Amino acid sequence: MADTFVGRETELTALYAAFERASGGHTQLLIVVGEPGVGKTRLAERCSQEHVARGPILCARCYEHQGTPPFWLWVQPLRAYLRSLDDGEVQDIAGGVAPSLVGLLPELSEWLPGVAAAPEADDSVTARFRLYDAVTRLPQRVARDTPLVLILDDLHWADEASLLLLEYLARALRDSRLLMVGTYRDVQLGRTHHLARTLSDLTREQLFERLALLRLAEQEAATLTEAVAGRPIASNLASAMFDRTDGNPLFVTEMARVLASSGGDEVGQRIP
Ligand SMILES: Nc1ncnc2c1ncn2[C@@H]1O[C@H](COP(=O)(O)OP(=O)(O)OP(=O)(O)O)[C@@H](O)[C@H]1O
Ligand SMILES: [Mg+2]
Repeated sequence: MADTFVGRETELTALYAAFERASGGHTQLLIVVGEPGVGKTRLAERCSQEHVARGPILCARCYEHQGTPPFWLWVQPLRAYLRSLDDGEVQDIAGGVAPSLVGLLPELSEWLPGVAAAPEADDSVTARFRLYDAVTRLPQRVARDTPLVLILDDLHWADEASLLLLEYLARALRDSRLLMVGTYRDVQLGRTHHLARTLSDLTREQLFERLALLRLAEQEAATLTEAVAGRPIASNLASAMFDRTDGNPLFVTEMARVLASSGGDEVGQRIP
């Protein structure tokens, strides 16, 4: 089955424990780190499925290409969430901070007629603080009614402004029913990377927990191969495939697909 999920018991236990702490009113920030294809996004999605019945899950993904607008990490989930509400609910959730947010979310002025942008602050520090404060109040307000999960995927591609806001939010919201699960590729992170600086600041203040994701064990890789290929795989072929993929789930999945489309174990010989 294509949606088979293998292994990761330890990581899921850590994530569920974080859910419980967050649900009890202690904001949690977990960051899943590992090489490309190791299963960071899949793990974050998997753990958030368990939350579906309890409250909203907002997802943000960062993109590789340059030119993403500042604060993009936050614009996406807030926009998606506000779009899912009716006008009365938008007023309730965002009304108080809407003037500070229309620059970031212009649609607020359509949803809340009469909302105009707050007057420009005299200096950029004040303007930035107002914006941070306004953005922070939204998840805080949502988490008052129901536990909230925020998935922040591919943080190695986040813009600097978004990361500074993540730092602010992690500091400002220590006692909310909020779980943030971030992911990033460690191979992508030099010491001068914005995210490296953000993480080192947050580490100093013990504001996040890091979950290092490793490759699959041989048996887990064999289970995944069989699930994707849709049939049992001979043990010598499974172990030859493990040698080639090293248990990276992306490679395991790709190879299993080749196997499925080829129809016979002899294809294993042709796998590069
Ligand atoms: N535990 C798992 N069980 C089953 N399949 C998995 C598991 N982990 C990852 N996969 C599969 O492996 C592939 C790569 O996973 P995923 O996209 O989550 O990796 P990633 O670490 O987020 O990679 P990237 O750094 O490129 O974002 C996907 O097809 C995913 O479904
Ligand atoms: Mg990913």
